[in-house]
Amino acid sequence: MSDPRPIGVFDSGVGGLTVLAEIQDRLPYEHTVYFGDTARVPYGPRDITEVRGFAFEIVEYLVSLDVKLVVIACNAATAAALEAVQTRFSVPIIGVIEPGARAAVLDTRNRRVGVLATKLTVESGAYRRAVHALDAGIEVYEQAAPEFVPMIERGIVEGPDLETIAQSYLNPLIEKEVDAVILGCTHYPLISATINRIMGPGVRLISSAGQTALEVGKILSRRGYLRRPRDAEDLGKSIFVCSADPEEFAVLGSRFLEEKIEAVAPATVLQ
Ligand code: DGL
Repeated sequence: MSDPRPIGVFDSGVGGLTVLAEIQDRLPYEHTVYFGDTARVPYGPRDITEVRGFAFEIVEYLVSLDVKLVVIACNAATAAALEAVQTRFSVPIIGVIEPGARAAVLDTRNRRVGVLATKLTVESGAYRRAVHALDAGIEVYEQAAPEFVPMIERGIVEGPDLETIAQSYLNPLIEKEVDAVILGCTHYPLISATINRIMGPGVRLISSAGQTALEVGKILSRRGYLRRPRDAEDLGKSIFVCSADPEEFAVLGSRFLEEKIEAVAPATVLQ
């Protein structure tokens, strides 16, 4: 049996491409539809109820494209809406918080874990709960980093301005002597070189992208939803949709995905 339906992936902007890249890597024969809500990015400073509403609209849109699974490749949307959308829709839906928390619990040796995330994700306490569900004795230190997403969406992923801001966000985590930092926003792997340099070699940076992609593979395989290619060359195709300027998304997205995004469709359905 082969299931050719695409996997739906969404984020507020280009950050979720870090998750898409892992899915393409691990499941190269799967078709994907990526939606970036670039008209409404960033989600982090918004109210949780508003972001939950966005997530409902986007999942509904992806379901209308007949996706076989939805990945909420956005921590803020996962924190705001995962349970609500799972309850409402019959398609399997996974988020990025639980996979990231699990990776951190596996990796920490001194059981002091930092979480770097947007304001919404930090205030939701979702990471603290997810880590404690696995190991209640781990100290979790959460730090909001509101400036990162707007910078990354402008294409700033290195340089002195980023360095200064990153240092101020990371100082409190350095003081707490964490040995693992969860990149609690799917945009942050794009600036991991800077974060790594400031935190130093003894601190592991945890991105949930790899773990999430693994989980996608497991669900598809257990449910018999994998797409069987005709031959080894029959790779999956990716469709990109965004809610603001498609041209801008294609340029920035190609840079981050390290692959040319040929066409991006505007999602008029959401306007
Ligand atoms: N990539 C989103 C996340 O993982 C960014 C949130 C935002 O738009 O502020 O939380």
